[in-house]
Amino acid sequence: MGCKAHTYCVAYLPDEFEEIMRYSSHLVFNSVAQYERFRPQVEAFGEKISCGIRCNPEYSEVETELYNPAAPGSRLGEVDAAFANGLPAGIEGLHFHTLCESTSYDLEKTLAAFEQHFGHLLPQVKWVNMGGGHLMTKKGYDTAHLVSVLKQFKEKWGVDVLLEPGSAIAWETGVLVSTVLDIHESRGIRTAITDISFTGHMPDTLEMPYRPRITHVPQRGEVVPTTDPPPEGGQGEWLYRIGGVSCLSGDYMREYAFRQELQVGDRLVFEDMIHYTMVKTTTFNGVRHPDICILRENGNLETVKQFGYEDYRNRLS
Ligand SMILES: Cc1ncc(COP(=O)(O)O)c(C=O)c1O
Repeated sequence: MGCKAHTYCVAYLPDEFEEIMRYSSHLVFNSVAQYERFRPQVEAFGEKISCGIRCNPEYSEVETELYNPAAPGSRLGEVDAAFANGLPAGIEGLHFHTLCESTSYDLEKTLAAFEQHFGHLLPQVKWVNMGGGHLMTKKGYDTAHLVSVLKQFKEKWGVDVLLEPGSAIAWETGVLVSTVLDIHESRGIRTAITDISFTGHMPDTLEMPYRPRITHVPQRGEVVPTTDPPPEGGQGEWLYRIGGVSCLSGDYMREYAFRQELQVGDRLVFEDMIHYTMVKTTTFNGVRHPDICILRENGNLETVKQFGYEDYRNRLS
């Protein structure tokens, strides 16, 4: 990136820590105890690194526990009780990350909780890192409101403010293209078996659970978005579960409504799949990774990377 990083990890590995210091202008520790363990190394390091602690404001709009860093007992960050004796010497910043695909209004509510728990420490710090989960590229996101919330916070506490947007950068980009390999029917339930795997390629669809938008690209006829959830008593709609190709029984999405019957060879395009998809793929069951391609504006498809058996084998032995 051409500059040093603002680094956070739930727990730094002792054998990586020297190298991490070389790459970091800021280091956020997940606990006071961890900071105290690494502090002698940071202080002995030739260059100044600004240290902070992750806090848990115990407030989050995220209801799914898997994605809620503020859930009771969360291992992510310290609750206010950890600072009963004030801030440890040398700490210059505080960090929280409790948003997920959230609005500026969610941030505003989170800041109120953060101030309630940690406000007494803010006069002593130089910076506050408000983590990620700010979906500022989504249609309708009130960026003017975000700016005013951040300005007010900065002015009130005299701190630098950092944000770590991740998915906002890749929002509504990147599709995963699958091909229908078979249509399976079991006592009235039809499943389109595809050449992808939800557990292997899109684990969030099972974990969150998150329903991807799917577009049907038939071999003949129009490209049509599917309807989800299927309309009640939908006339002329075809219902299909979408099945993955792994052995996991739950490797499927419940029914989507299609405007026409699916045929083997049709394409199903999973929309907006780049964030939390490419980085989370596994080679579970030996299911092949999709190729990574770039579709240029002139229609050319460039293949950047293809995966095969060797990639699977080389990870294992
Ligand atoms: C500490 C931290 N910062 C930033 C992010 C990026 O969040 P998002 O991609 O939702 O903006 C994450 C994601 O989990 C995170 O844990």
